[in-house]
Amino acid sequence: MSQKQPLWYKNAVFYQVNVRAFFDSNQDGHGDLPGLTQKLDYIQNLGIDCLWIMPFYPSPLKDDGYDISDFYNIEAKYGTLDQFRTLIQAAHKRGIRIIIDMIMNHTSDQHDWFQQARADRNSPYRDFYVWSDTKDKYKEARIIFLDTEESNWSWDDLAQQYYWHRFYASQPDLNYDNPKVRETMLDVMRFWLKLGIDGFRADAIPYLFEREGTNCENLPETHAYLKEIRSMIDHEYPNCILLAEANQWPQKVREYFGDGDEFHMGFHFPVMPRIFMSLKKGDRTSLQWIVDQTPPIPENCQWCIFLRNHDELTLEMVTEGDRQWMWQEYAPDPRMKINLGIRRRLAPLLDNDPVKIRLINALLFSLPGAPIIYYGDEIGMGDNILLFDRNGVRTPMQWDQSLNAGFSQTTPEKLYAPIITQAPFDPEHVNVTDQLKNPDSLLNFTQRLVKIRKQNSTFGSGNLEWCNIADLAILAFKRNYHNETIVVINNLSDGVKEVRLKEPGLSGIPTDLISLQSRPDFKNGNIQLVLDPYQFIWLKYEKLDD
Ligand code: NOJ
Repeated sequence: MSQKQPLWYKNAVFYQVNVRAFFDSNQDGHGDLPGLTQKLDYIQNLGIDCLWIMPFYPSPLKDDGYDISDFYNIEAKYGTLDQFRTLIQAAHKRGIRIIIDMIMNHTSDQHDWFQQARADRNSPYRDFYVWSDTKDKYKEARIIFLDTEESNWSWDDLAQQYYWHRFYASQPDLNYDNPKVRETMLDVMRFWLKLGIDGFRADAIPYLFEREGTNCENLPETHAYLKEIRSMIDHEYPNCILLAEANQWPQKVREYFGDGDEFHMGFHFPVMPRIFMSLKKGDRTSLQWIVDQTPPIPENCQWCIFLRNHDELTLEMVTEGDRQWMWQEYAPDPRMKINLGIRRRLAPLLDNDPVKIRLINALLFSLPGAPIIYYGDEIGMGDNILLFDRNGVRTPMQWDQSLNAGFSQTTPEKLYAPIITQAPFDPEHVNVTDQLKNPDSLLNFTQRLVKIRKQNSTFGSGNLEWCNIADLAILAFKRNYHNETIVVINNLSDGVKEVRLKEPGLSGIPTDLISLQSRPDFKNGNIQLVLDPYQFIWLKYEKLDD
């Protein structure tokens, strides 16, 4: 990809895709790399700049691939390294970059390193993991998979010791105090960078090191090592990026940007539940609060924002009261809950209401940060709460109304997961082909948002300034960049609202970015309008040169 755009990620739109779920090219019931390659035209048509591909490494799939048993290969069901090379080339040819998941914190217990480590105390791999004779160490570290794990220590009979794990017991943590581990993981990253990828979504990075008397998260040692990785990338693969998965408060995630010398990007976890909260309450307060809590980041860094992903809608970063409220409002059936979150997709969470779904996407595309779309959400796919763990939000992509929603030609029993069959989320109602034909579809709307967003780098690079409006149901802000201001006004409520805004700093006649109409009635920042329930408007003012 072009070396001329070092800050390409600041204005990029991302698409998160699960290879297994996207398209099955060889009729074995699992999506695969050639299948994803075949569907690149669709992704290009949507306007996507960068794909985030979820783990495709060999894995016993106890955590859907976040449990890697070989860092240097591809899970046979998904394809081969050659097919991955082909995918990268085909994507780059279309101007689409690719970042892949890098799971640094742990391996699968099936990984050969762990097997050797447990079998022999003198194996060089013993010290690749964290062992103890008792369960007494690191007591202040919280348990993340609360529904299944009782402790971060598990006993291994063969090893005759406990081993440390922050996630499932089948995912032993690597020991980053061991220089060999640090070196090896750098080499793993080099291996994939050399194949031509454009960076990594780095999984679970707060937990790399453990220290007694701390909660074992965000430790200085962790930051020091991550800076080493960044330095390797800058020297050996400039233009490639690191995206941090740190489910933490903004002040803590801020540390992962360093002085612009650690991560290029970081997910903004706490903003996400507050978007849902503000929308359901018809009150901007919590969303505005978290944006205000977000510290500035270095010029060469960018937040990544999202509405949903492959995990539960996490409620780790809200108060206990807000968590209970979110569960009550968004997870009325107890089966919708998991750990500290909600295992549902975007469209069902919003009652499949097109107006609300459009508004929430408009928020995603106008708030600071680069937006990520979770595969299937651009067509409003549903979920299946009967499936195990978080699998209910990872069902096959719905391409058309044919057999298996066009995902695979195999018999339905052979699919890795069943297609969503319940109306209104079944393929008859939700599929790509029909939505491509319908100008009013969610897919076409999303495509339009992506296009507008990319034509206006103010969304990616501008600052945010709140507009002064007393009614808490109205969330209005300005995004300013160079000589341009985009005024964004959202009605978060189910009522009709009259909005009056005077922004004397703005001059000229704005353009409504969605309808592309010029709006002389809003000249010089005098805005007076009526918004329908959940309606939004984006107005672009350009300062003319004096
Ligand atoms: C975060 C990933 O998003 C999640 O799916 C996984 O279970 C954990 N990290 C452990 O790797």
